[in-house]
Amino acid sequence: MSAEYEVVSPDAGAMIESMRAFGYDLATALADLIDNSISANAKNIWVEFMWDGAESAILIVDDGEGMDEAGLVAAMRMGSISPMVKRSENDLGRFGLGLKTASLSQARCLTVVSLANGAEVVTRCWDLNYIAEHGGGEWRLLKPPIPDVKNHAERLQSIGKGTIVALSKLDRVVRDGSPGDKKAEKRFRERIDEVRAHLGMVFHRYLKGPGALSMFINGTKVSGWDPFIEGKSEALAAERLSYEGEKIQVFPFVLPHHSRLTKEEHSAASGPKGWNAQQGFYVYRNRRLIVSGDWLSLGIQKEEHYKLARIQIDLPNSLDEAWHLDVKKARAYPPAAMRDDLKRIARATRDKAAKVYRHRGKVLQRKHADDFVFVWSAKTLRGRTYYKVNRDHPLVKSVRKSCEDGEKFSSLLSMIEQAVPSPLIVINNAEQPDTLGVPFGDDPKGLLQCMREVYGILIQEGETNTAAATKLAVMEPFNAHPDVLTAFLDEINRG
Ligand SMILES: Nc1ncnc2c1ncn2[C@@H]1O[C@H](COP(=O)(O)OP(=O)(O)OP(=O)(O)O)[C@@H](O)[C@H]1O
Ligand SMILES: [Mg+2]
Repeated sequence: MSAEYEVVSPDAGAMIESMRAFGYDLATALADLIDNSISANAKNIWVEFMWDGAESAILIVDDGEGMDEAGLVAAMRMGSISPMVKRSENDLGRFGLGLKTASLSQARCLTVVSLANGAEVVTRCWDLNYIAEHGGGEWRLLKPPIPDVKNHAERLQSIGKGTIVALSKLDRVVRDGSPGDKKAEKRFRERIDEVRAHLGMVFHRYLKGPGALSMFINGTKVSGWDPFIEGKSEALAAERLSYEGEKIQVFPFVLPHHSRLTKEEHSAASGPKGWNAQQGFYVYRNRRLIVSGDWLSLGIQKEEHYKLARIQIDLPNSLDEAWHLDVKKARAYPPAAMRDDLKRIARATRDKAAKVYRHRGKVLQRKHADDFVFVWSAKTLRGRTYYKVNRDHPLVKSVRKSCEDGEKFSSLLSMIEQAVPSPLIVINNAEQPDTLGVPFGDDPKGLLQCMREVYGILIQEGETNTAAATKLAVMEPFNAHPDVLTAFLDEINRG
């Protein structure tokens, strides 16, 4: 079909500066580059932070397949492959962008040096300053002479094959500082810990087992962080789901209560965001972690007593579009048709996880059943039944004490007691049995708030942590939620 058209190419300078704002941070950017090394079958990856003030650099060195000249030029193109193209099963790429967008999100200069079997060392460079000042709006990819990258070339030759991705002019990492600026150097080196934790988490399944990948940061091996504490957690029944003919495997786990772990194990298992925040789904694409601890917008909140629930989902890369994978490989959420299944699995796992706490709470309750504290009690007077609020309930007592007008408070309580809508309750219960709500059954935040208040009051009255905990376990309305209560107390005991 013939059509009239104009070619409207993006201005390289403007476009490339805008592409810096994809929202990577240093750790997600490096993970995206490591994806490329893994896809190129690297067995070893060395990440190096090299401090030199404004000239500091970060290198990602791998011993993967490397690229020849044509391959490298293609790789440096923005959108080197269409996201619509079917990828091989183990390929961690999708958009043909990561090498450029991840690198340039942190650095103004990206130099790639590569050596493939049977080829020469080749190098190319995107330099944002050059493009801004001399690019004339064109996508000018620089061809540095090999002697300019002599050290990198020699290093690749000694490995035999592989690729070095060098990030320099790190304006988003090193804002200021001369080489001798110790404070700036310390800030730079501190980023290593954050990167190490992130890479250890994202790639943990590549870092173990036969033929495992070895990854080093500044010479120190990166160890994997296993969210499921293999061998110690309870594995619930695995499920095989399918979507558009592709298999999705789901492995729910309930992690052990902290009393079954050493202090070190418990703190190691907590993960980068902490125990409560790390509950939820862990979405893997191949063996690479995309989402770590999230309820995937299924309308489920993170709550303390569900924190032992962690669920592994394994996706093939053929479902990238269906799962809304983003360029940074930091987000994915399920297609509508899968939500019900995932909700069902989440509920069952959360219920199992809460049982750990419920059980502990019930043991506590049984032990101290004689000290039970009610909110309401029934009194019979001249053949009629009245319901009264327990004036000795710690919260009632404390509010009364702090009330300037004690009379008014007593009147309020009397009014509530006299006006209890007993007939309505009786009728409702007769017409629709079992529909009466559990106190705070649908208001976990309100429950926690109330629990905190009463716990605070008991501590103020001089109770020890343990005594306060015991009292809460046998006190209305908290007795109806032994799981929430024990998770709350665990949290308090751990400071
Ligand atoms: N370390 C490397 N070793 C070998 N080839 C590489 C390496 N890094 C990149 N490449 C090649 O460059 C191409 C482009 O990489 P880039 O990260 O930009 O896109 P992608 O990996 O295909 O997709 P995505 O945008 O999802 O990461 C890759 O498909 C790969 O062929
Ligand atoms: Mg990539």
